[in-house]
Amino acid sequence: MTKRIAVIGAGNMARVRSRALLATGKAVICGVAARTGSSAQKFAQEIECEACFDDFRDLARTSPEAVLVEVPHDAQDRIVLWALDQGWHVLIGGCLASSVCAAEEIRRIAVKDGLVVEAGYEARYSATWEAVKRRVTDGSLGKTVVVRSVALWDGDPTSWYYQEQASGGMPLTHMTYCFINPIRWILGNPLCVSAFANRIKHTGKGLIEQETCVANLQLDNNVICSMTAGFIKPGDVPGWSVLFLGTEGAVEIFPEDNTITVYRDGGAETKDFSAERDAFECQASVFLEAIDGRDKCRNTPGETLGDVRVALAIEASCRQRATKWIDCKLDDGQSPVEPAVKR
Ligand SMILES: NC(=O)c1ccc[n+]([C@@H]2O[C@H](COP(=O)([O-])OP(=O)(O)OC[C@H]3O[C@@H](n4cnc5c(N)ncnc54)[C@H](OP(=O)(O)O)[C@@H]3O)[C@@H](O)[C@H]2O)c1
Repeated sequence: MTKRIAVIGAGNMARVRSRALLATGKAVICGVAARTGSSAQKFAQEIECEACFDDFRDLARTSPEAVLVEVPHDAQDRIVLWALDQGWHVLIGGCLASSVCAAEEIRRIAVKDGLVVEAGYEARYSATWEAVKRRVTDGSLGKTVVVRSVALWDGDPTSWYYQEQASGGMPLTHMTYCFINPIRWILGNPLCVSAFANRIKHTGKGLIEQETCVANLQLDNNVICSMTAGFIKPGDVPGWSVLFLGTEGAVEIFPEDNTITVYRDGGAETKDFSAERDAFECQASVFLEAIDGRDKCRNTPGETLGDVRVALAIEASCRQRATKWIDCKLDDGQSPVEPAVKR
């Protein structure tokens, strides 16, 4: 049955995910809210939605069953908790929350009230990442030894992404996507992290402290992982890939191109997944089906609390110049991730 979805936020990702929800044919957008009325109105016109507001609380008038939240992270926690309080299911465009405390509260309420909450990591729904997961876990590349990821993005210093308070910091905003979340999905949780960061290009007051970061992680199954990520990427410098090296071969993913290259038996083979179904649409579809219990989300609060914990441990390690242990287990002792690769 078609679900009524309200959208909070009218920026870039609100557009991407609203289109993805509409493309499933299983949703209508019943209302839109943004910080400013003009922004909400412009977006509402684009998607032919009649109700738009400059205060998200007015969306209650549109009787949604679920809400898509696409706002800066300092505003996000309050909005998500309010939406849950209304009894709505929530698709969050970004990380689950800006703190472990808020993430745990969201999880507690979602479990108590039987509401679907899904964080925004679409990688787990992409055919390209699915192919990497298969390659890493089917044993054809031997035992995984090391993961090396690079995620450089040309951040806009005038945007909220560059504001430490609004974003919650670069590790939370950027590194959870690229690529803490999919790496945890494939290989399980990190045990500890040693990370370093610098701030070279934009150093104004209130701007992010970890502009560029290198984090070395020890994963649960004796795999080591080196992640480089940051908001400096001049021109065409390549900077968006993840290599999984095994004892018998390797697989490298280029998520921007939707391609993977598999190295085995002295050769290299590249596969292109760009004709596959869009990951945002797959995620939107699963979210909508999960509301009626017909499917299961892959970025549940119990699962993505781990991403928040890892990001905040990276940040703490940078600040304190110390190795930090990370406990991704839930408070009931369960591990949210079943490592695909056994010890
Ligand atoms: N999956 C991915 O690949 C991906 C990529 C990038 C970002 N993200 C995530 O997507 C989310 C949204 O990012 P974005 O790039 O779309 O941001 P954006 O373009 O800057 O848009 C942010 C929107 O939030 C609205 N807003 C701010 N404070 C608000 C409040 N208190 N109440 C209601 N609306 C408020 C703004 O309203 P005004 O327009 O009125 O100012 C704006 O429309 C973030 O969580 C981000 O981490 C995901």
